[in-house]
Amino acid sequence: MIDPISGSSTEKYTHGYHESVVSAHAVRRASEAAAFVLPQLESPMRILDFGCGPGTITIDLADHVSPNGSVVGIDSSDQVINQARKLSAEKGISNVKFEANSIYDTGYDTSSFDAAYAHQVLQHLSEPVRALEESKRVLKPGGICAVREVDWGAAAVFPPSDRLSKFFEVYNRVAERNGGDAFAGRRLKGWFEEAGFTDLKTTTSTWTFAEETGLKWWGEQWADRILSSDIATRAIEYGIATESDLAEISQGWLDWVKADGAFFAFMQVEVVAMKP
Ligand SMILES: C[S@@+](CC[C@H](N)C(=O)[O-])C[C@H]1O[C@@H](n2cnc3c(N)ncnc32)[C@H](O)[C@@H]1O
Repeated sequence: MIDPISGSSTEKYTHGYHESVVSAHAVRRASEAAAFVLPQLESPMRILDFGCGPGTITIDLADHVSPNGSVVGIDSSDQVINQARKLSAEKGISNVKFEANSIYDTGYDTSSFDAAYAHQVLQHLSEPVRALEESKRVLKPGGICAVREVDWGAAAVFPPSDRLSKFFEVYNRVAERNGGDAFAGRRLKGWFEEAGFTDLKTTTSTWTFAEETGLKWWGEQWADRILSSDIATRAIEYGIATESDLAEISQGWLDWVKADGAFFAFMQVEVVAMKP
């Protein structure tokens, strides 16, 4: 059966919407997450942010293209859409609109947006090229699509730890079983080519956690998420990990935060491309 909002019959969103997940997404800002495309976005553009989550990046984009530009943020989850609406109302940002909608079949008019943007979304989709094709359909000729995806296979962690190695294994296997791809970063350029975009510009950046505040935030977040969010439920349901494995992994993250020389970095891949 096709889910009426996500538009997919197969995939499951790996992280779910537990507070530990949504609060981690809600710290994201366009100045970091959209730095690779911000210089190309300006008033009076109309932008689609697909898979917008709690909307913090979307609201920044709206602010960026004010006074005459606007942004539509869509997500399959009513929960995050409501949270995003509340935040935009609190901030008094009026050139942004949030709608529960499917990436695969948005229903928006063909050639009705100047730019489309997605951050950490295609990695969760079983049909990423179909999502890019839909973004291409709604773009005007000459419009740009900008996407950023992590590659969990390009992560560097110190000190080495069996419990964190197990975390990577659990994460990658759950993502794959849910229909996604934890190594999406390295495939992003190919997906754009397959979807028929031209003038591709591919760049990379990193998320790095090496200072006390960042280490604590990153490690404690995963110590919580691996026990409380959907990844835990799915790992157990799929027989990928037991409750006691997850408790070990969680403690592994907490011990890593305090370890001498603790360091974590991983690669983000960014593509900006044009609808011919
Ligand atoms: C990792 S979150 C990223 C949220 C936001 N872009 C950010 O970076 O903070 C991925 C989002 O994609 C949404 N999503 C997944 N599949 C979707 C689909 N088929 N249609 C619309 N949204 C979808 C999820 O609900 C989730 O909020």
